[in-house]
Amino acid sequence: MERDRNASVSQSYVIRPTQWADAEQLERLQEIVFPTLSDHQRFKAQHYRKHIELFPAGQFVAVAGDRVIGMTTSIRLNFDFAHGHHTFDEVFQNGWLTAHHPEGQWLYGADIGTHPEFRGLGIARELYRARQQSVQQLGLLGQVTVGMLYGFSEVCRDMGIDAYYEELALGRRSDPTISAQCKIGFQMRGLVRDYLEDPACANSGVLLVLDAKQEVAGRGL
Ligand SMILES: CC(C)(COP(=O)(O)OP(=O)(O)OC[C@H]1O[C@@H](n2cnc3c(N)ncnc32)[C@H](O)[C@@H]1OP(=O)(O)O)[C@@H](O)C(=O)NCCC(=O)NCCS
Repeated sequence: MERDRNASVSQSYVIRPTQWADAEQLERLQEIVFPTLSDHQRFKAQHYRKHIELFPAGQFVAVAGDRVIGMTTSIRLNFDFAHGHHTFDEVFQNGWLTAHHPEGQWLYGADIGTHPEFRGLGIARELYRARQQSVQQLGLLGQVTVGMLYGFSEVCRDMGIDAYYEELALGRRSDPTISAQCKIGFQMRGLVRDYLEDPACANSGVLLVLDAKQEVAGRGL
């Protein structure tokens, strides 16, 4: 899959499965993409190598030449929407993702990120599309993830996280992460408090779902 569509930035990239040799670059990309996340909740090179063994169909990168500029990590698990509250650590398992269940019915997105220099080029959309192809090929029910409320840090002096989420859910506010995920096709299913350790989003995220029957919204490569 290849794209070169943003005339002002003019960068082309390819989406492909994560390879063993990407691991060191991915560790660095984690620090760039998640600067405020607690370091012990960032994936390291050794974790990435393990993920490829664990569930290769859930690991994708975006590359521009030899440079890794986007990444996503996902696993399979069963998800109980009646008890949707969970924590990142329950899935993350110190980076090893041993919560992966080979027969799990949902593709759970542990993370996604695009290098800041390459945002707005459709990279996240194509990474989600690659994940959705895995969902459909494996006969899963869809994708579930928790998107981080990274826009909250700009208004946290004026409002609490509950009010921020409510305004977002009502469409009165945009968030750099959740709004991007909703444009791609995800639906919001509720606020998840104390999900991980990141002051920029008050440790909170939004439970998001993309049904297997849906295609990722927007233009393809
Ligand atoms: C969220 C993130 C992954 C988006 O990556 P990206 O490659 O720039 O996204 P895309 O170019 O594929 O954009 C997809 C859609 O989201 C929209 N979008 C992107 N950034 C947006 C923003 N800041 N605000 C509103 N919408 C935005 C795009 O306009 C596009 O929709 P459109 O084509 O209908 O206009 C990226 O900003 C990022 O890495 N953020 C930090 C890490 C993070 O929050 N990860 C997700 C939580 S795990």
